Amino acid sequence: MSESRLSTRFTELVGIDHPVVQGGMMWVGRAELAAAVSEAGGLGIITALTQPTPADLALEIERTRKLTEKPFGVNLTILPSINPPPYDEYRRAIVDSGVTIVETAGSSPEPHMEFFAEHGVTVIHKCTSVRHAVKAQKVGVAAVSIDGFECAGHPGEDDVPGLVLVPAAADALTIPFIASGGFADGRGLAAALVLGADGVNMGTRFLCSQESPVAESVKEQIVANSELDTNLIFRPLRNTARVAKNTVSDEVVRILEEGGTFPDVQSLVAGARGRLVFEEGDLEAGIWSTGLCQGLIHDVPPAGEIVTRIVAEAQEVLTRAVGRFG
Ligand SMILES: Cc1cc2nc3c(=O)[nH]c(=O)nc-3n(C[C@H](O)[C@H](O)[C@H](O)COP(=O)(O)O)c2cc1C
Repeated sequence: MSESRLSTRFTELVGIDHPVVQGGMMWVGRAELAAAVSEAGGLGIITALTQPTPADLALEIERTRKLTEKPFGVNLTILPSINPPPYDEYRRAIVDSGVTIVETAGSSPEPHMEFFAEHGVTVIHKCTSVRHAVKAQKVGVAAVSIDGFECAGHPGEDDVPGLVLVPAAADALTIPFIASGGFADGRGLAAALVLGADGVNMGTRFLCSQESPVAESVKEQIVANSELDTNLIFRPLRNTARVAKNTVSDEVVRILEEGGTFPDVQSLVAGARGRLVFEEGDLEAGIWSTGLCQGLIHDVPPAGEIVTRIVAEAQEVLTRAVGRFG
């Protein structure tokens, strides 16, 4: 398979060759992974809050720069929390380090837009509904990443899968947008482009790559898992998260379905336990994010190969379709 540049409005906007983005991933989006994706012509994204302090984030950005001269971004996930991290300081570290592409997620980007605009930052806002995408467009983001029900992490509460969400977003938006959730191969990229998106954002596929800094057992489990092996936790709390099916997530689902409240599951879902899964490879230590597309993942290639393979496959699929029906 040969692969040439696959330009879209999104690639033009952020200055990359291929419309393939590696979305922010807590504990996973570090320099090596992001740089490998960017080096291959996609857009790698490091995850701000994976770094314990804004100063550490600045060092991680510097490390990424040593690995690639190509564009990369930083994910800033802003979630309501009892002890919020110092978001303003992370934001400051991003712009002081000269990064010009930020993926926002978790809540409205509006409070941050003035600051990012002043510093010439291109904001890609990730959200899970067309109405939030339209709002983000209104407050001035340059692009949207729209996450369907298939996605790892937080799919929202509307349960609209990509097959409807992506064309609905295409109808509603004028700015470039990328489709997210459930994409793992070239057929998915081709479909996203046909449905009107300007590219794809992927998490699970890159979690299962050689540069992903998680234990090998996690990657082996993703390869072994099918599309049926996820759980949706926190549904009754209206803060749904899609995670791997294991004894811990089964227990969380059971407790909440039986009328339990957050304090009843708090220790089971602790971030520190999820981190142990990734760092020590104990798959039953806690909850960990993975998406339905794990059913399409059968290997653990280098992240750069994922980019080039997906682009080549998408080009092949689209050319074949044109040959057959064009
Ligand atoms: C392990 C893991 C951690 C994630 N952490 C974050 C995060 O901190 N912030 C965020 O915006 N998205 C996070 N995501 C979501 C991804 O960026 C992406 O939107 C999602 O994985 C897309 O769905 P897919 O897995 O089907 O490709 C995470 C995903 C995974 C698999």
